[in-house]
Amino acid sequence: MARGPLIGLLISPPCPFKLSFITMHIGYVQMEPIFGEVERNLHYAEVLMGKGKADLWVLPELFATGYQFTAQEEVAALAEPIPKGSTTQALISFARKQLCHIVAGLAESHESNVYNSAVLVGPSGFLARYRKVHLFSEEKRWFSPGDTPFPVVDVGEAKVGIMICFDHFFPEAARTLTLRGAEIIVHPANLVMPVYAQLTMRARAIENGVFTVTANRVGSEARTDKTLHFTGESQIVSPSGDVLVRSSKDKEEATVVEIDPAAARDKSLNPYNDRLADRRVDFYDI
Ligand code: ACM
Repeated sequence: MARGPLIGLLISPPCPFKLSFITMHIGYVQMEPIFGEVERNLHYAEVLMGKGKADLWVLPELFATGYQFTAQEEVAALAEPIPKGSTTQALISFARKQLCHIVAGLAESHESNVYNSAVLVGPSGFLARYRKVHLFSEEKRWFSPGDTPFPVVDVGEAKVGIMICFDHFFPEAARTLTLRGAEIIVHPANLVMPVYAQLTMRARAIENGVFTVTANRVGSEARTDKTLHFTGESQIVSPSGDVLVRSSKDKEEATVVEIDPAAARDKSLNPYNDRLADRRVDFYDI
């Protein structure tokens, strides 16, 4: 696929009622990491983020390493400790310079384990880590299952909850983040199954009344006899399920939209129904 200066940047027009509420710019990077080229991938993500201005950026799952591992030694060599590792530290420096928050998917080494993780960093430094709970396909060969709770962090303008890729298949993940107060659910991804997440994340947004940001990657990896095609179509969805922006299937780009986070605080659907207050937990088997 095309590489290089293919940078689409979308910023929604200024809202005429801006004075009446606090808006926020949220964005994602859709990119094609080159397997194993950590410094190059980090630099490229920074170049893309530098093309726009966002309060919160979301980068794809495993954005610095690439996805298709072939041996445990390879995963161990590319994984980094969090927050001491050089990629997390570089993201913190970028967040300080740009006065923004960043969520990014990373391979994390911790003691003798490696996790498929995501970090949240900001101008004040490292804020949170999440280790992917629902490992997908051959990820189970390389990573330990997540052992950290789904995190929700107040970044000032809004409360941000983190899940990773295949977690979208389990509505409990987004529901748990919502019950913990998330107003924006960020979703670093390396999606290989066509269409599903673009649908499920709309459902997750509607049923929980939250914004969702899916930052997917593009391109393919053929490091084994099984070629993986990553599906792009990163998207941002509003609490009423509107797709505020969706990217192409194959282009690298940074995209930013302006939102009103307060739209995720009112869970009511009408004077009689509320997404959270109406839950009948005594009838659920979970
Ligand atoms: C996935 O969880 N990377 C499909």
